[in-house]
This record gives sequence, C-alpha cells and structure tokens, in this order.
Amino acid sequence: MTEYVYPVALTGGLTRSEIIAKMHARLDEQRFAHCLRVEECSRQLAERFGEDVDVAGLAGLLHDYAKQVPSADFEKVIRTEGFDQDLLQYGRGIWHGMVGVWFIQKELGVSDPRVLRAIKRHTTGNPNMTALDMITFTADFIEPARTLDTEVAARKAAETSLRTATLIQLQGTLSYLVGKGAIVHPLTLATYNALIKKEKN
Ligand SMILES: [Fe+2]
Ligand SMILES: [Fe+2]
Repeated sequence: MTEYVYPVALTGGLTRSEIIAKMHARLDEQRFAHCLRVEECSRQLAERFGEDVDVAGLAGLLHDYAKQVPSADFEKVIRTEGFDQDLLQYGRGIWHGMVGVWFIQKELGVSDPRVLRAIKRHTTGNPNMTALDMITFTADFIEPARTLDTEVAARKAAETSLRTATLIQLQGTLSYLVGKGAIVHPLTLATYNALIKKEKN
C-alpha cells in the first residue's frame, strides 16, 4: 500500500495512518479497500486534469467514511443538527455523503471545504460541481474493481473528460433508479440536466 503524506492543513492535524485507524473503526475490510482504490484513482485523475492531488486523494480516501453508520444515527443527526428535514425521505445511499461529512468533521476534524464538498456531493452530484467534485464522483465509479459496461465506458471517457465521465455515471444511475421504481434526489436530476445542457452547447 502506498503511504501518501497529506498536509496537516488538509487533515486537521491527523496523519494518514491515524485517519486509516479511524476508518477501520467505521468500515469493514471490503469497504475500506474500496476507499483505498478510490483514493488512488482520485489522485491519478487529479494529476491528469491538473487539480490538487492531495485534496482529491483525501476526498477519495474519506468519501465512504460514513457508509456504514447506522440509519438511526443518521436520522438523529438530520433531526438535531440543522439539516433539511426533507432528507429523511431518502436513504443511506444519499445520507452517507450529504450527512456523512458531519461525521467526518466531528470524528476526524477534517474541515477543508474542498474535501468536504466533494464528499458531500459524491452521492447526488450537484449542478455546480467543481472539477474536484467530479473527480471524487468519477473515481468512485471507475476504480479498478468496477467492471460493468457503464463503468468501463466512464473509465474510457475519463481519459479525456471528467464531465463526460460524470454524465455517463448519472445516466446509468438515473436509469437504474427509475427502472426499479426508486426515489430520485432532485440534485441528481438537476446535475444531469446541467451537464446535458453543457454537452449540447
Ligand atoms: Fe459512497
Ligand atoms: Fe464509494
């Protein structure tokens, strides 16, 4: 495993080993391994597209920190910590990003807005996504263990365009959610619309 060294200004003072120890307390081995692959992939994408490699790497590493937080804990935080109560109608798939950043700030002390924003946006997207947001979003979808056709297509697209890779993922996610009759978060649809408009202009 590569031992990256992150600037303490980004980590809130923790070393990467300390962060990893805290991740082990929250995640099983499989999910943890996925986070390491997303970290690696995020760093490569940042290198490719001229973005900050450490910001991208740290967001990738931590993006699923709250993936296995119990639903009751998410619901309690949504009810008591100033979140939009509308969030309660969605599920853990949405919460682990949008509410997950609360746990990351609280339990790790990471407060860099670029890192937190990319993590927050990785479950829904956002019509105003930055390149760094798209890196986390895309790396999550194209890390080496992903082998579905849409994932392979997004990986290919990410060789030249983060926006196209993001759009391919959104098309796949929307088709999947609508196909199984699941609720779609409005931000996911708004992100798709924003990217389609740009693609057509
Ligand atoms: Fe996630
Ligand atoms: Fe993930």
